[in-house]
Amino acid sequence: MPEVSSASNHRFQPSSNRQRVNMHPWIADRTASFDSSGIRKVFDLAAKLKDPINLSIGQPDFDVPEEIQDATVDAIRSGKNAYSPTQGIAPLREKLLAEINAKYPGQNRDVFVSSGTSGGLVLSLLSMINPGDEVIFLDPYFVMYPALVSLCGGIPVTVDSYPDFRLDPAKIEAAITPKTKMILVNSPANPTGVTASEQDLRDVGDLAAKHNIALLSDEIYSRFFYDGDFASPAATNPDTIVIDGFSKSHAMTGWRVGYVHGPPEIIATMLKIQQYSFVCSPQPAQWGALRAMEISLDGHIDDYRRKRDFMVEQLSPHFELTSPGGAFYLFPKAPGTEGGTAFVERAIADGLLIIPGKIFSSRDSHFRVSFAASDDTLRRGAERLIKLAGDNR
Ligand SMILES: Cc1ncc(COP(=O)(O)O)c(C=O)c1O
Repeated sequence: MPEVSSASNHRFQPSSNRQRVNMHPWIADRTASFDSSGIRKVFDLAAKLKDPINLSIGQPDFDVPEEIQDATVDAIRSGKNAYSPTQGIAPLREKLLAEINAKYPGQNRDVFVSSGTSGGLVLSLLSMINPGDEVIFLDPYFVMYPALVSLCGGIPVTVDSYPDFRLDPAKIEAAITPKTKMILVNSPANPTGVTASEQDLRDVGDLAAKHNIALLSDEIYSRFFYDGDFASPAATNPDTIVIDGFSKSHAMTGWRVGYVHGPPEIIATMLKIQQYSFVCSPQPAQWGALRAMEISLDGHIDDYRRKRDFMVEQLSPHFELTSPGGAFYLFPKAPGTEGGTAFVERAIADGLLIIPGKIFSSRDSHFRVSFAASDDTLRRGAERLIKLAGDNR
């Protein structure tokens, strides 16, 4: 990860400016432009803990609903095990397209099934980012964004969103230069759980249209939306490229089923690359996803709203904290001037697993807590966090 920057708009170094340090001679330069050691360190520490209170997990704590499991096993047993068409099985694509057309009437959108939302992200960036193109997104950000932009030779430009993590259209506009190619938005967001307002999304969509910039919307947490209705910039900017998927909504993270919809020419370009890379999303899992589209998630969402309320109520008196409107993360500030990494090290030493904010940010002031956990784990986790905050006084 890059050095901490004091500027609010931070440009990551282009990969060509980075040095190859202790790299095997066969390894390509482009891989030196990002690092994954931060997350690995947390996992290494976690592996040493016996029975930790685990609030680090980025996936739902419920299992894949049984109907989806049955549909997938049926697909396997009835021989639906070959490659699917590159764009996905027809019934799933048709059902997705019907849902998309109902949501965005009058728009000319096409859709394909990707290998998870991550696959959709990779193909979006490969299809649209030329070397030297700038891609704007908020800091804190999902870890893949700077890495994938750099891998494509693009320049990640982060817009500092502390302390409330709002998608502020004025700040986005200030970061636009003649080299800006894309704005990447993520609401509800990982790692903050913060949701963008309909108006801010509309304004960012207008900005993208005005400057002829691609707008990519990562909506993987769209179902986990607790206050009001989910909003997408695609509602007002028909050229928005939307990425969504079944990983989080139906606890299918290991199944690799996502989808991308947007202007047909862009989707066709992504398919061209999918054909020569991912090939297709696993066929049996796509039949499971088709069944998933018929299942109500209301019970789970109500449950997660209640978990959110519990954690916010417990932690707010002890930590500086923005209440998340979606996803299943809280992003509190570490107490005093201790910093996120030092606080997380103390937490891990005390058997509590959380993630330092530095992994998602150029700042090291916060930490991520996942509330995708059982009520008992959350109760014990909240108690431990409050104790750790007290120890710092
Ligand atoms: C914001 C965001 N986008 C994309 C992904 C990738 O999800 P998938 O499992 O569908 O590849 C994640 C997973 O944590 C995420 O948090």
